[in-house]
Amino acid sequence: VEPHLLHNAVLSWYEDNARDLPWRAADATPWGVLVSEIMLQQTPVVRVLPIWQEWMERWPTPKDLAAAQPGEAVRHWGRLGYPRRALRLHACARAITDEHGGEVPADHATLLALPGIGEYTAAAVTSFAYGGRHAVLDTNVRRVLARAVRAEEYPPTATSAAERRLAEALLPELGAARWGVAVMELGALVCSARAPRCADCPIADVCAWRLAGKPPHTGPARKG
Ligand code: ADE
Repeated sequence: VEPHLLHNAVLSWYEDNARDLPWRAADATPWGVLVSEIMLQQTPVVRVLPIWQEWMERWPTPKDLAAAQPGEAVRHWGRLGYPRRALRLHACARAITDEHGGEVPADHATLLALPGIGEYTAAAVTSFAYGGRHAVLDTNVRRVLARAVRAEEYPPTATSAAERRLAEALLPELGAARWGVAVMELGALVCSARAPRCADCPIADVCAWRLAGKPPHTGPARKG
């Protein structure tokens, strides 16, 4: 598949179909993006929305959260689940305050060195908050690429070097961040794990999995 055909189809679909989420708004800060990505890792968007809003009002910058007690972060985590994430965000806010002058770093390696930030979150912040050219491989993106390019229903359990190379090779020269969030949104809204809506998919006519007759995943059962 010609990458630019994928780019154009997915980007114009995104323009018409993207959800209006506050961490994607023009006035979202890198801190807001970072908080959203940690919250969204194990919790659906609709449950994250009110808590994210509350956090942004209460702690609009890393310095504000760093000045609070860790227990406060947990108390305001609501019912998002996995409350250790609140403590990790708090530790992260303190490190950003102490070591980076209160500014969320833009560089992937610098982000990765912060407490509580893994490969995915570092890539998401670099890309979505700063427009950096970095592949963002969450489960939605990985599933879209597995299907569209590799003709496989699901990606492997753990992200492989081959997937990373493929995702990097597909990054457009310009607008990589918008491409990343657009593929993610396509995976979330159309190319879903269990009930993909191929009739509504902007890349159905070039999707390797669909063209192969949608062969079911073989091997260990998986959810994602
Ligand atoms: N936009 C950017 N990152 C996102 C995520 N992890 N889930 C939903 N929307 C997002």
